[in-house]
Amino acid sequence: MTIPEPDSTWRFETMHLGRRVCVYRQLDSTNSLALSLAENPAHDGLVLLAQSQTSGRGQYGRVWQAPPRSSVLLSVLLFPPPDLRRPALMTAWAAVSVCETIFESVEIPASIKWPNDVLVDGKKICGILIEQRTTGDAAFPLATVAGIGLNVAQTAAMFAEAGLPLAGSLASVGGKALRSDDVARTLIRRLDKNYCLLQNNGVGAVESAWQDRLGLLGKDVIAEEVNQAHVGRLVELAFSGLAVETTEGRRVRLMPESVRQLRSIT
Ligand code: BTN
Repeated sequence: MTIPEPDSTWRFETMHLGRRVCVYRQLDSTNSLALSLAENPAHDGLVLLAQSQTSGRGQYGRVWQAPPRSSVLLSVLLFPPPDLRRPALMTAWAAVSVCETIFESVEIPASIKWPNDVLVDGKKICGILIEQRTTGDAAFPLATVAGIGLNVAQTAAMFAEAGLPLAGSLASVGGKALRSDDVARTLIRRLDKNYCLLQNNGVGAVESAWQDRLGLLGKDVIAEEVNQAHVGRLVELAFSGLAVETTEGRRVRLMPESVRQLRSIT
């Protein structure tokens, strides 16, 4: 499939991602379009940005809604090397980049809520949806789409009216009027910088920023898998695995991808 004609195009002098950004007034979903372009590895690093979506998608089949121009709605299409293909790592990379973007935009620290939300003052201001598909290309067998919805301009009253009292935006938590295009530019640069770090320096820097923003290491937590939950002290938190020391003195090891929820119980 060829890239549909965008309403405008941005180009960044970045290393990997955002050298071409296709901006659309309206799409059904930036993730859906990115997935349909994923059979062509020449699109590696392509960013799709929409001012509004008619069928924005969230985790677990939920809808993602945002008034036109209120938010950054973007997807990045990547063909990562084997060691970077894990959804948990890609989610962490996107979440850390969003936290840095928030700090650069409104100078407020943000935290990561397991697995894929970014919060400020307890309000969800960003959701991340990582989707992958096989390509049929032997050299680039798996494409990854990182979809990011970052609320920028919605007011607290708008969230209350929409029945979303736990949602926030850069404007509602930061008290600063920002243009979503400017925030999108900052985010694209941060995503590129951190992707280059992952590729060239290994996962260490992104992993430790992710650990810090989760703020759960050493705390009493509940870690929920599909069929069971583990309660205890979180003694390890890494892409290679988590370890929970249970109250009965057992050490339970879990892969990040198998943990659906992880939260503090203190
Ligand atoms: C969630 O928290 O459930 C994840 C929400 C992800 C929403 C973004 S908006 C841009 C991209 N396109 C989509 O259809 N979804 C993601």
